[in-house]
Amino acid sequence: MTNVEALKQDAYAFLEQYYRETGQPLAVFEERWENVEQEIEASGHYEHMFEELSFGAKVSWRNSNRCIGRFFWKSLQVIDCRDVRTEEQAVEALRHHIRYAENDGKIIPTISVFPSVKNGKERMRIWNYQLIRYAGYERDGEIIGDPQSVAFTKYCESLGWKGEKTSFDLLPLVVQVNEGAPQWFPLKTEEVLEVPINHPDSDAFSTLGLKWYAVPIVSDMKMEIGGITYTAAPFNGWYMETEIGARNLADEDRYNMLPQAADVLGIDRTYAGSLWKDRALVEMNRAVLHSYKKAGVSMVDHHTAASQFRRFEQQEQKAGREVTGDWTWLIPPVSPAATHIFHSSYRNIMHTPNFFYQQHPYK
Ligand code: ARG
Repeated sequence: MTNVEALKQDAYAFLEQYYRETGQPLAVFEERWENVEQEIEASGHYEHMFEELSFGAKVSWRNSNRCIGRFFWKSLQVIDCRDVRTEEQAVEALRHHIRYAENDGKIIPTISVFPSVKNGKERMRIWNYQLIRYAGYERDGEIIGDPQSVAFTKYCESLGWKGEKTSFDLLPLVVQVNEGAPQWFPLKTEEVLEVPINHPDSDAFSTLGLKWYAVPIVSDMKMEIGGITYTAAPFNGWYMETEIGARNLADEDRYNMLPQAADVLGIDRTYAGSLWKDRALVEMNRAVLHSYKKAGVSMVDHHTAASQFRRFEQQEQKAGREVTGDWTWLIPPVSPAATHIFHSSYRNIMHTPNFFYQQHPYK
């Protein structure tokens, strides 16, 4: 099959789904298809109408097998950035996304969609994993900051960026337009909402000096809708507390804070059977939930997220659709068997529209 034929097939399947699910008259679909087919034959490409893009982005979320938060897929706010042509415009749009999604703490699930791949040519890439992320530095065997960011941090330094070498340096935004050289733009703490982590009943916990940012905006995945690939389409929801309390701050190859957390909380860690890791994990997660709540920043706990996921499953069943999922990602890392997800099974097959991983230039 030629590229044009494949694109036509994917476009047809998506447009058919769009008109079917949104309940529009057959005649409207037929006319739109005729136009799209002509556009593809004439140019090897087609542009989505905003409504199609918006629907496609929401369904991409609905189809994201690893996401427990999919109950809210219809509420995704779609920002059309397809007219962006320069790195400066791109960064302005990214700063806008951050501010808009943060919404002073009442987080809005948002996606910003930049120009798609056209005739095999990528027009926009964001090299950050997330728009907001902390740097990691390796210094004679020791790591300062987030170990997961070491490779990207080195890459930013190779572009000329220099961090302050604290545990929580904000990485710069790195964007690339067409085949141009990637350009970096600093992100200041004043323009990012962050949350200091305190424990509800231990003052000593604050001495750990922990914090995390409010909104996780994944920016390195591509979105595929009807044969069109959007290589820059950063999206966000709000955090589930375990992502921070049981992974980012807890994993041994991340901030590795469990031993110190146990110590300030007076938990005996002289033997594994004291279950100090488990106890420290629970306290860490309580601290994260408490702190986000106090700061007025949206966050969901894993029990509530699991019940919302159950409602999503019920809703999808009513609509006659199968919920696909990646069980290994859907179960929360804390008390997984206390949620129904642990006792359920899901087929891990990928439908489009969807988000996919793509290659990093560094690494
Ligand atoms: N797990 C990632 C992190 O801790 C964020 C992934 C997206 N999470 C979300 N709640 N939308 O930074």
